[in-house]
Amino acid sequence: MNTKKIYSIGGLFDTPDGITKAAEDAVKEGYTKFDVNTPYPVHGMERAMNLKPSLLGFITLFVGLSGAAFAFLFMYWVSVMDYPLIIGGKPFFSWPAFVPVTFEVTVLSAAVGTVAVMIALVFKFPNNSHPLHDTNYMKNVSSDKFGLNVVYIDPLFDESKVKDFLSRAGANNIEVIYEPERKPLRVFDPKFIGLLVMLVLLTAGVTYFTLNKLLYMPPFTWMAVQDKLSSQSQNTMFADGYGMRNPVEGTVARGFTPYEFKGQPDSVVKNLSNPLPFTKENIDKGKLRFDTYCSPCHGYYGKGDSRLNGQFPNPPTLHSDKVKNWSDGNIYHVIVNGQNVMPSYAKQISKDDRWAIIHYIRVLQRSLNAKDSDLETKKQ
Ligand code: HEC
Repeated sequence: MNTKKIYSIGGLFDTPDGITKAAEDAVKEGYTKFDVNTPYPVHGMERAMNLKPSLLGFITLFVGLSGAAFAFLFMYWVSVMDYPLIIGGKPFFSWPAFVPVTFEVTVLSAAVGTVAVMIALVFKFPNNSHPLHDTNYMKNVSSDKFGLNVVYIDPLFDESKVKDFLSRAGANNIEVIYEPERKPLRVFDPKFIGLLVMLVLLTAGVTYFTLNKLLYMPPFTWMAVQDKLSSQSQNTMFADGYGMRNPVEGTVARGFTPYEFKGQPDSVVKNLSNPLPFTKENIDKGKLRFDTYCSPCHGYYGKGDSRLNGQFPNPPTLHSDKVKNWSDGNIYHVIVNGQNVMPSYAKQISKDDRWAIIHYIRVLQRSLNAKDSDLETKKQ
């Protein structure tokens, strides 16, 4: 027993006045590292013990302000930088709306932070025991006695002197409190870790099984498992086995104008002139469509230099006198009806786009066959 280190020496008193007087005496004797334990707060004790104001308030202030700054900046980041959404026509940085959340986070972090700091600094986490625990002294002061104990770190600490002081101060029970033996933390025991892992796995398994198997009722069939047609694959839903269906006869797609000259003699179409104005916008659109739909066979400049490597017969150049002298309507006719092996592009290309392509073909034709006069600056 005597090899154990002394933690403190405590004395028990019967009345609040007695303990207050004892605390004052302790200060007079010059003790600084002593503590008082009472079953309820005794007023004037901090004065009697000559305690300085606690630092904890500043820690709380710091943690609270950090929480406030974090909440405010986080909301600023979300609503101004990361995901700006116009809500009710308000500016993105609508700070009054941030106030309630900032306030709540301030209070929350101040409270939780203070407790965490106390656990870490005062109780020296992960240490979870205190020498006073489980002593006769502690049992009494948490019932109806008032205790004062002088801790060994006090510069004036001396076993017999402290005992002497306590009896002079009127303590009726003096107890030497020893440091408990430090046992290695049980949480690092492999047995404990194994048990914990098994418990986690078991809980996860039972939860998963209960929620997903026992109680699981599909709220609806997910999109992935719906009955659906894959356009490119065979399907048993229709008698002909095709997944891809043709539109019902007579259907007209939105925004699509059926060929307006159906059944009329070709000459009617071939004499049409281009209804679109010859503007940069239309030419640009025409270039885009030409490059997409026509250039694989006709080449980017309409020279007939197909990129299809002989998979399809090369078309003639679009820079022939024939096509240059054709009316716009004639080219339109070819796009809509095709010509010999060239198929119709009526389905892929809308009416306006066809005319835009024709504007672009004219641009190509003029650019590859420019005359000297084309190079002169146009008089405005
Ligand atoms: C699949 C390849 C292919 C595509 C794509 C294609 N053409 Fe053709 N085109 C041809 C072939 C081949 C001919 C020659 C047909 C023939 O023998 O009369 C031709 C002929 C033409 C002619 C007539 C030329 C002439 O001298 O008789 C014009 C005009 C024309 N195409 C315009 C277009 C336009 C505009 C597009 C884009 C909307 C286009 N073609 C898309 C292959 C294609």
